[in-house]
Amino acid sequence: MDINGKTALVTGANRGLGRQLAAQLRDRGAVVYAAARNPATVDLPGVTPIALDITDPTSVAAAAAATSGVAILVNNAGSSTGSSLLTGDLADVRLEMDAHFFGTLAVIRAFAPQLAAQQSSAVLNILSALSWVSFPASGAYCAAKSAEWSLTNALRQELAAQGTRVSVLHVGYMDTDMTRSVNAPKSDPALIAKLAVDGIEAGDAEIIADEVSRQVQAGLAAGVAALYPQLA
Ligand SMILES: NC(=O)c1ccc[n+]([C@@H]2O[C@H](COP(=O)([O-])OP(=O)(O)OC[C@H]3O[C@@H](n4cnc5c(N)ncnc54)[C@H](OP(=O)(O)O)[C@@H]3O)[C@@H](O)[C@H]2O)c1
Repeated sequence: MDINGKTALVTGANRGLGRQLAAQLRDRGAVVYAAARNPATVDLPGVTPIALDITDPTSVAAAAAATSGVAILVNNAGSSTGSSLLTGDLADVRLEMDAHFFGTLAVIRAFAPQLAAQQSSAVLNILSALSWVSFPASGAYCAAKSAEWSLTNALRQELAAQGTRVSVLHVGYMDTDMTRSVNAPKSDPALIAKLAVDGIEAGDAEIIADEVSRQVQAGLAAGVAALYPQLA
């Protein structure tokens, strides 16, 4: 896909990876809507801030009505409550599903008609290595990312009928607010954003951004014993 001149919308574009994705798309010549719960927090020059809370149906409908010509939709917005599925607050578990699964789904449904109207269009969903492997301490987040992975694979088949390509990014830890308390190697979100937008340009169905994600993906084929050796 030639990004130059296309209209793109990035959710959660006010900080973290979303801000870098909006900057990458802008730098490659896209007209960028930088969507954020509070558009006043968008500080990127050369983009158009727009209000969007992906968990609020009224906000999603308003954002779709306020925009036109969106050919590239990037579903980046997400939260991490660090909740255990067994002992965490159920409200936090629901919040993860509301953002990553129902929120992403609502945004795709709302923007599908705009995407369909373009000669070429693309959706990029930001997933994680944690779509494929679960940590008990953040079980709610991992379950929501798995649900988003499944959603992506169903919708990529449905959206193909209208000529919209769907890409997915899997990545391990990045250095953003979300991982401030994590003490582990982290990627630079600017570099991950570059890889992600390269993937949209190339029409890649799956963008595996780092070695951790590659290893976890390979582990899937080897089953539970490979992914959770501590249970042996
Ligand atoms: N950081 C990592 O290591 C990592 C690894 C793999 C995947 N990811 C994924 O990458 C994406 C971006 O994460 P990040 O690391 O950049 O996190 P971040 O720095 O915490 O940013 C999260 C972004 O999502 C927005 N957001 C949260 N809930 C929202 C909602 N209901 N409606 C609209 N916007 C909402 C936040 O907006 P506010 O400013 O309003 O809170 C913020 O812009 C997420 O999907 C995350 O799951 C992250």
